[in-house]
Amino acid sequence: MADLTLTDVTVEYSSGGYMVRPIDQLTLAVSAGQLVLLLGASGSGKTTLLSAMAGILTPTAGSIHFQDTEVTQLRGGDLTEYRRHTVGIVFQTFNLVPSLTAAENVQIPLRLAKVEAVRARARAEELLERVDLADRTGHRPGDLSGGQQQRVAIARALAHDPPLLLADEPTAHLDYIQVEGVLRLLRKAASPERVVIVATHDERLLPLADRVVELTPRRVAAGATPAPRVELAGGEELFAQGSPGDLVYVVEEGEVELVRLLSDGGEELVGRVGPGQYCGELAPTFGLRRSATARATVPTVVRGLTVSEFRGRMRSGPELSGERSKL
Ligand SMILES: Nc1ncnc2c1ncn2[C@@H]1O[C@H](COP(=O)(O)OP(=O)(O)O)[C@@H](O)[C@H]1O
Ligand SMILES: [Mg+2]
Repeated sequence: MADLTLTDVTVEYSSGGYMVRPIDQLTLAVSAGQLVLLLGASGSGKTTLLSAMAGILTPTAGSIHFQDTEVTQLRGGDLTEYRRHTVGIVFQTFNLVPSLTAAENVQIPLRLAKVEAVRARARAEELLERVDLADRTGHRPGDLSGGQQQRVAIARALAHDPPLLLADEPTAHLDYIQVEGVLRLLRKAASPERVVIVATHDERLLPLADRVVELTPRRVAAGATPAPRVELAGGEELFAQGSPGDLVYVVEEGEVELVRLLSDGGEELVGRVGPGQYCGELAPTFGLRRSATARATVPTVVRGLTVSEFRGRMRSGPELSGERSKL
């Protein structure tokens, strides 16, 4: 049975009056002992998803279970308990307290949980030994390399021996030699009975993973088959805001309107695209999600083009002239 289960998790934010949906109906099941890589460009929702798993953020919809606990239903003291004892978090920027030694930093979560001083000290020594820093326990963060600081942060995240370890871009500030030490520790942390989730935009971490979950929609490969002619009835949707974008659409007959969903539930007209004009080129070109919904206003015919076909047609002349697309 899976230890961590996400079912149709959706997270929406209101940003400048617009609705942003970085996580859209994500379903995922992970068993203990697995290391899962959340791979995605900046802004693809990695931190958002880790925050939801950590019980720091409540998803707009969907549920998250860890073992017997429905994380998305936890409130108050139960939530604090979950965050403190079930989850360990490693941050991109280490988040160590500069005035405290390595050993004191590792003891922070233990002292917060009222573990007595002697036991907390012994546990910190043991954890620092486990991350190969037995000879650095009295050093302050400023006297440690980036890689050593991240290893202190991993020791601190493991203080309560949490069954779920979340790491957010843990290698972003490290050189390649330091990266290796941190990765080895994260890999080791996954076995035998811990779930480890590592968010990164760095594809070099791929070999580390048992599973890879891609949060950035993939660009369509050159040579992919375009959609044939698509016929839409008036009011019918061509693509939805927040969905992965794979094709550029050229309107052959009729009209497509582009609307952006607002966080108050309303929508705003962004533009109208008529015969000979195109829409939807930004998402597939840059591997983004659709920033608006496209729907036909009247019976409409469109043709889907891959990005490379689209580029070819743009280069080959004024066939697709007309107004610049709105998206
Ligand atoms: N608190 C927030 N309010 C509004 N929008 C947010 C908030 N946090 C993140 N976002 C937006 O959600 C998207 C995903 O962000 P994030 O989870 O930080 O991505 P990543 O960690 O992959 O860079 C981005 O478009 C970001 O601007
Ligand atoms: Mg992030």
